[in-house]
Amino acid sequence: MHIYRSALLRFAEDGSALYEEDGLLAVAPGADGRERVLAAGSWQALSAQLLAQAGADTVVEHLPGRIIAPGFVDMHIHYPQTDVIGSPASGLLPWLNDYTFPHESRFVDAQYAGEVAHFFVDELLRNGVTTALTFATSHPASADALFAEAQQRQMRLITGKVLQDRHSPDGVRDETEQSLIDTEALIRRWHGVDRLGYAITPRFAPTSTDAQLRGAGELAARYSDVWIQSHVAENLDEIAWVRELFPDSRSYLQVYADRGLMRERAVYAHCIHLDARDRALMHETRTAAAVSPTSNLFLASGFFDYAQADAAQMLYGLASDVGGGTSFSPFRTMLAAYFVGREGRDKQGLSLAPSHLWWQHTAGAAQALGLPGVVGNLQPGCEADFVLINPQATPLIARKTAQARNLEELLFSLIVLGDDRLIERSQIAQKLG
Ligand code: GUN
Ligand code: ZN
Repeated sequence: MHIYRSALLRFAEDGSALYEEDGLLAVAPGADGRERVLAAGSWQALSAQLLAQAGADTVVEHLPGRIIAPGFVDMHIHYPQTDVIGSPASGLLPWLNDYTFPHESRFVDAQYAGEVAHFFVDELLRNGVTTALTFATSHPASADALFAEAQQRQMRLITGKVLQDRHSPDGVRDETEQSLIDTEALIRRWHGVDRLGYAITPRFAPTSTDAQLRGAGELAARYSDVWIQSHVAENLDEIAWVRELFPDSRSYLQVYADRGLMRERAVYAHCIHLDARDRALMHETRTAAAVSPTSNLFLASGFFDYAQADAAQMLYGLASDVGGGTSFSPFRTMLAAYFVGREGRDKQGLSLAPSHLWWQHTAGAAQALGLPGVVGNLQPGCEADFVLINPQATPLIARKTAQARNLEELLFSLIVLGDDRLIERSQIAQKLG
């Protein structure tokens, strides 16, 4: 058993934040040998009993001035776009054609993919992200490379080979039948191995034929606990293109719905330009939105409508969407979400509460991924993925956080001023024995 004493942040079932200034987190291997949270709460309430049952191998680590918090969950990121960050374009489609597709073609080289995968996972962890749902490229070896890397670190990570069999240049375009064969082979090779999960990954409706989308939907029905990930309703030019390509569909989202691609564990990035029927469909099918505010601001795509999403009881969580997104840091993403959350409210109105922003990137994201009580939280039974935050990481952050009068002020100071410098440690639940 490992007992940590520090400030402790976690989330209740209803999404509200729980915080102990003098907290205790006890971690011990579960029945499968994986490190899990055994107890979490106040030091005063829990320590006597836990220390009484401590064995000779129990370690107690006192971390004064530090905050233990759930590892962040990034609901949508592209590992092959690590080097595409900061590529300027007038909008999504030129950005894809001018920078992203040419760059992704390099991942045909398995060795290159492996090198980027290694850097990418390092960068996730340096930023406190312990679980991600990420795109690979259309090359099966790109998914193999990231799975192997994540497996070595014992991370809970979900990825999949991209499906894109049309309107894509040579070098990234795949072939309909082979792409589905490759997808199924990857599912069988990786899904459920250690902490890895597979996501069936049609890039977006414009770059897949009807046959490829239908094939993806058939696989999603056959392998009901694999994930599905794609993009929807991000950009107005993209939406006009989908309307031309699928004239019989009521909406962009309906293209996916009609092909078996909306269900639990399906995650669509952006979901900006949805209408009321789309939002109701998201809710009814328990399909989740990956809100990607730095990307939406960078590519001038628009603003996720939090008020409408909440009114429709949509599942959602936060995502970096690197490389359309501009940062791996959950702090940057939460701050961008704060700016976006203010859109459409009257000028006097506040935006989203800091604890709600934080929840969207931890327990809320885990719930949206269909992993509640597994990652993204530190309640008993959760896998013990957590970050150690140093609120004294910079002079300004130390000065500002020292003046916080309550939890919301403390979290907001970290969100507004924070970045990778706050993350002193990212701890991944290990499997022992
Ligand atoms: N739509 C299709 N592909 C992409 C991508 O790589 N990034 C973003 N942001 N949108 C997409
Ligand atoms: Zn994306």
